[in-house]
Amino acid sequence: MKIIMLGAPGAGKGTQAKMIADKYNVPHISTGDIFRSNIKNGTELGMEAKKYMDQGLLVPDELTVKILLDRVAQDDCKNGYVLDGFPRTIPQAEVLDKALSEINDKIDYAINVDVPDENIIRRMGGRRACLTCGATYHIEHIPPKKEGICDTCGKELVLRDDDKPETVANRLDVYHKQTQPLIEFYSAKGILKTVDGTVDMKDVFSAIESILG
Ligand code: AP5
Ligand code: MG
Repeated sequence: MKIIMLGAPGAGKGTQAKMIADKYNVPHISTGDIFRSNIKNGTELGMEAKKYMDQGLLVPDELTVKILLDRVAQDDCKNGYVLDGFPRTIPQAEVLDKALSEINDKIDYAINVDVPDENIIRRMGGRRACLTCGATYHIEHIPPKKEGICDTCGKELVLRDDDKPETVANRLDVYHKQTQPLIEFYSAKGILKTVDGTVDMKDVFSAIESILG
């Protein structure tokens, strides 16, 4: 099963993608997590990506597409995957489609987690992320067992640099201009499924389960 998660920054793509990955036993691939782990390790890719991410801008397609295509070519992706944060532009979606059609394959579902901008702004300030394992918490909705510490790997939780209010506003703007057109793109292919992302995360997941079966 090959799934794409669509939705504004902070809509809950990562939260739901992890739950899908666990239940359906497919890898969760987040381009944002890949970039953040490169930044943390001080790689050349990380340094380049950081310039864009810190401003809330998209990392250029040339850098992003190659990383994603290399990742989905790995062995653990043979039975499917859930993509979180990719594609984010029409050209990225077209490259992915082309690469899949060359191996007689296709995306099964594009799941759009729908959350209005007002809710997003409230959510982001409360998010805490683990830069080591990619786990995400929320200080009110999904607190870690021990304040400031990741339940999964025991490392310190941080407020992401791009979760500062002014950067969130930029990310939303970029989302509406560059990423939202993908909703129409996948709708035209007949694989778009929209779920209400404003309800409790368990209820969002139930809606996704009823789509995926
Ligand atoms: P990325 O890491 O993908 O960030 P994003 O799309 O901005 O999305 P987020 O990770 O912020 O939100 P999410 O939807 O995963 O929400 P989450 O589950 O954490 O990308 C970061 C940057 O990398 C981009 O800005 C860009 O620069 C670059 N980049 C990445 N991919 C790229 C690409 N393909 N092309 C170009 N550039 C790229 O949830 C948010 C919060 O809400 C959490 O605290 C969570 O606990 C809480 N929450 C979740 N669900 C609920 C719920 N139902 N109710 C209440 N709270 C909830
Ligand atoms: Mg995410």
